[in-house]
Amino acid sequence: MVKSISVGLLGLGTVGSGVVQIVERHQDKLIHQVGCPVEITKIAVKNLNKQRDIEIDPVKLTTDPYEVIENPEIDVVIEVMGGIEETYNHVLKALRNKKHVVTANKDLMAVYGAELVKVAAENGCDLFYEASVAGGIPIIRSLTEGLASDRIKKIMGIVNGTTNYILTKMTQEGRAYEEVLAEAQSLGYAEADPTADVEGLDAARKMTILATLGFSMPIDLDDVKVTGISGITEEDLEYSKRLGYTIKLIGIASKDHDKVEVSVQPTLLPNVHPLASVNDVFNAVYVYGEAVGETMFYGPGAGKLPTATAVVSDLVAVMKNMGLGVNGSNAIMPQYPKSLKSADEILSKYFMRIHVKDQAGALSEITTLFSNYNVSFEKILQLPLKKRELAEIVIVTHKASQKAYNDIMDTLMKLDVVYKVKSSYRVEGEGTL
Ligand code: HSE
Repeated sequence: MVKSISVGLLGLGTVGSGVVQIVERHQDKLIHQVGCPVEITKIAVKNLNKQRDIEIDPVKLTTDPYEVIENPEIDVVIEVMGGIEETYNHVLKALRNKKHVVTANKDLMAVYGAELVKVAAENGCDLFYEASVAGGIPIIRSLTEGLASDRIKKIMGIVNGTTNYILTKMTQEGRAYEEVLAEAQSLGYAEADPTADVEGLDAARKMTILATLGFSMPIDLDDVKVTGISGITEEDLEYSKRLGYTIKLIGIASKDHDKVEVSVQPTLLPNVHPLASVNDVFNAVYVYGEAVGETMFYGPGAGKLPTATAVVSDLVAVMKNMGLGVNGSNAIMPQYPKSLKSADEILSKYFMRIHVKDQAGALSEITTLFSNYNVSFEKILQLPLKKRELAEIVIVTHKASQKAYNDIMDTLMKLDVVYKVKSSYRVEGEGTL
């Protein structure tokens, strides 16, 4: 039996400090599970003198990442430094040096995941990344192990806490986007530059990882259609509420007839949908499997200890594999080649809010346009607007192809009676009103 496992860390920020704490505090549990002590022996940091909220023996700290990735004493490298290109090189070198790698880095895995998983397997190493999606929720292991026997048909995720916080506050308190974003920044949920969160890129990276695993198909970040939440207004939320829906930023990955679609976009969910009541910074992932039916995984999507829990659980998995001598053997390569749905094959319901001239025939022109594309209305509301002699029309369609929807939108904007298409979002399921 090995005397102890030596772990090196790349990075000692929020998650890195959490990893140190959990390894120290849960040492008895780790020993019970893997049969030997676990020690963090080297930590590469940017600044040796930075004030930290944990005590670290200064001998363990280095500013040279090669003291971790080329250190013959180290068995497992935990990458919690973030970033893409530089980190990719470090992880690649660590794997080629036959070190197992645990990473929390969704940006890295969404871009280089396929290649790194292959390199890990070729070198007989594990590469685990549970913390990269939805922080403390064990969704990756649920897809690859818990649901391994099923055929996954659909994954819907609230996988970005910042945007969920903003939308929750806008919905519950009737406040404007900018005001709640500023509050989220002051609470430390949103970054000073919130673009990756609010424009959906962070969620798209996570959905790339989930779709690749769920459908066993190599999905790329560029395959994900992304729309963020920065255009959502109080009026959109108000009308959604009136129609029995809640707006959430939803990552949707679905598979029909062996073809898949993946998107991240503001989506109207019926109030009774399990994801509609996931509020504040919480994350949740809904998975529909052919045999299992509906499942949902809920919890903290970020934060020091929740994310570190996922990292250290990956470390336990690596160590158990070391005990069995099977590292690198459970890398699952995609079973199917990539096959994406065309715009004709992507079907969805849509919500649209349109300002039209309040004149005879305006509604009729719009209904004729939709009928020309064979798209039928499920719900429609029309209200006069105080200003400019305009009326506001709110429509929820029955299912339409993305192609028909795009064509309708193009034509709609050119109609003389249409003043402005104010907003348009995807709709899932039936509203409760
Ligand atoms: N910025 C992310 C979020 C947390 O708001 O959910 C880390 O993935």
